[in-house]
Amino acid sequence: MVRVTATPMEIEKAAGVLRAGGLVALPTETVYGLGANAEDPVSVSRIFQVKGRPPTHPLIVHIGGAQQLDDWVQDVPPAARLLAEHLWPGPLTLVLRRGDRVPLEATGGLETVAVRVPRHPVALALLSAFGGGVTAPSANRFGQVSPTTADDVRAELGDAVDFVLDGGPCQVGVESTIVDVTGGTPSILRPGGVTREDLEAVLGCPLAVPATSRVRVPGQHPSHYAPRARVVLVEPERVVAEAERAREQGHKVGVFLPAAFADAPVRAHAVVTVPPSMAAYARELYRHLRELDRQGCDLIVASLPTEEGLGLAIANRLRRAAGPRLTA
Ligand code: TXA
Ligand code: MG
Repeated sequence: MVRVTATPMEIEKAAGVLRAGGLVALPTETVYGLGANAEDPVSVSRIFQVKGRPPTHPLIVHIGGAQQLDDWVQDVPPAARLLAEHLWPGPLTLVLRRGDRVPLEATGGLETVAVRVPRHPVALALLSAFGGGVTAPSANRFGQVSPTTADDVRAELGDAVDFVLDGGPCQVGVESTIVDVTGGTPSILRPGGVTREDLEAVLGCPLAVPATSRVRVPGQHPSHYAPRARVVLVEPERVVAEAERAREQGHKVGVFLPAAFADAPVRAHAVVTVPPSMAAYARELYRHLRELDRQGCDLIVASLPTEEGLGLAIANRLRRAAGPRLTA
């Protein structure tokens, strides 16, 4: 069997790379991150160079436990404490007022900072061995599909990263849910691995609609999470017909076939049957997008799941994959 989990020696080595100002790709339960010492502006700046990410797009600071929160932020309201206590470690990122320890390079110049405690044992072991915070965006080039295996990271970033920690395939598969808790009613800035329903159950009240959020959200460009192939979204019952139409036009078509139509005959270059479970769909979404690219599809036909539970995050990523592309 192939070994997929980093050894204690590799974790020590990765911590040393971070201390020396290097970049380490690390597994989290959501996607792989490209990590740097959060307190070192030079290392943090290297992340932006490697990703080709605009310097105004803020990063998430990963910490080893909720008890460290006050080392990194100021003015933590009770709602933030409640969410941290119940949902950390886990795929939840909290946006709070920046503490002095966080350089402006990490926040894209903002006075707020995004913080999370990841649930992956390798990430937690690295944070413990390193001792500090690790800023880590998803370990992909700007605008591309996030990596969910160590091989994805190597294919995407190659030698640009100093060390890759392998923690096996990511269990959640979509990024963390980002929640603005800087004041007033918390609101979701990016849906992700923790559902709206989970958040509302912990808070005991509905979340604010995102439009009322008081923070700017740079880095939420509509063309994020895009494969090379163009993504076309249609109603579930039109997926088969749309795939056929595109095939007749000469496209190499990849199809995300909704579970309800799993038995429908569909002629296409590659067909992925969407799992009925949203957790399984989230876990496999990016792998499938990458795989259809690898198979040379130039067009992917898909439909949106119902926007409940993890369906909200999946629909968000599919919409963005289908959105207008970055031209940079
Ligand atoms: O699951 C995840 O969140 C993964 C893993 C590696 O932890 N990380 C991730 O990072 O998705 P990234 O950089 O791809 O996305 C972070 C998003 C940015 O798009 C940005 O919009 C938002 O977090 N963000 C960061 N700091 C913020 C802040 N101060 N205010 C509002 N949004 C912020
Ligand atoms: Mg990303």
